[in-house]
Amino acid sequence: MATNNCHAFDLLSNQISRQKKYAWDLERDLPWELGVDPDKFLLPLDENAIVFPGLDDELRLALSQFAGLFVNTAISEMEGVIDKLRDCAWRECLRRNPVNPELETLGELFFDEELKHSRLFKRFNLAFCDRLGIDPKYLQQILPQTFGSRFLDTIIDNAKDGGHAFWWVVASVEEVSIGVFRQMASEKAGIDPLFFEVHRRHMEEEMRHCNYAFLILDLIHKRSKNLRQHYHARTDLILAQTSSSTWLLGELQKMWRVQKMGSLHPFFTRLVRVVPHFKRISPLKLPHILYASSPYLSLFLNLRRHPLTLAKAIQTGTPHLPMPRPHDLPVLAKSLS
Ligand SMILES: [Fe+2]
Ligand SMILES: [Fe+2]
Repeated sequence: MATNNCHAFDLLSNQISRQKKYAWDLERDLPWELGVDPDKFLLPLDENAIVFPGLDDELRLALSQFAGLFVNTAISEMEGVIDKLRDCAWRECLRRNPVNPELETLGELFFDEELKHSRLFKRFNLAFCDRLGIDPKYLQQILPQTFGSRFLDTIIDNAKDGGHAFWWVVASVEEVSIGVFRQMASEKAGIDPLFFEVHRRHMEEEMRHCNYAFLILDLIHKRSKNLRQHYHARTDLILAQTSSSTWLLGELQKMWRVQKMGSLHPFFTRLVRVVPHFKRISPLKLPHILYASSPYLSLFLNLRRHPLTLAKAIQTGTPHLPMPRPHDLPVLAKSLS
């Protein structure tokens, strides 16, 4: 078990060795030659197909593929954000609070790995477009983006002000990535093999470095605090929760754009046919589905699905928004008929 103590330099040194030894290469170590199987699921779906109940087999497949591309892009964009904060949220923090060279080296590895992961998911989405003959620029119109978003501006402004909302976001995203793979693992036979391998490889490195955000949160918690730092310690997790969930829900709305894209490709045509099924969900049930039972969206949105992050918040007395109790649903990567 990796340490969350930023002063445990011997354990940190061991972790550096492990990360270097087992790091994989984006080009060499992934089976890109497999290409994407257009008849396989990407992400398994629950019976309600996340929020679109009553889909036939063809539409379940299309939604599973869209969900896989959406989750890939959401993780890729958030891990791309990580690199943009390298100076203002990390180097500056270590400059103000020097600890040991191991924490710095692990940070370099962490940022490099996340940038590689961001490229990994983009690369898969391009392979999907290539196999199905979809122009990536059309697909991009219905997928999330952080560039120019209020979320990115908020997190950068917070870091420049000495806050650490960024590290709370990172801690949660690490748990999302691992949780997504856990949802897939039992349904491997029905999942596109390249997609599965992309997430398996990603999960491996996530498991090795997922303590890094907690090491920095530990450092921030231990340092002496002035009034501004006390303010950030009380508000930054709430800021992280609200800015990231507002971003995700806003980006999810891009899916409705597909209604004008049906003529561009059969994949979009099928997604257009998915949309009317959304109306079968009661508006009263929708918040519970989004925050508690949807296998992927609730994984992003609900802090109670991030047990390590929640435990850190409780341990440090950090205020956070209350969330509903998660409700796990079985997921399947095959047709229902
Ligand atoms: Fe990652
Ligand atoms: Fe990570």
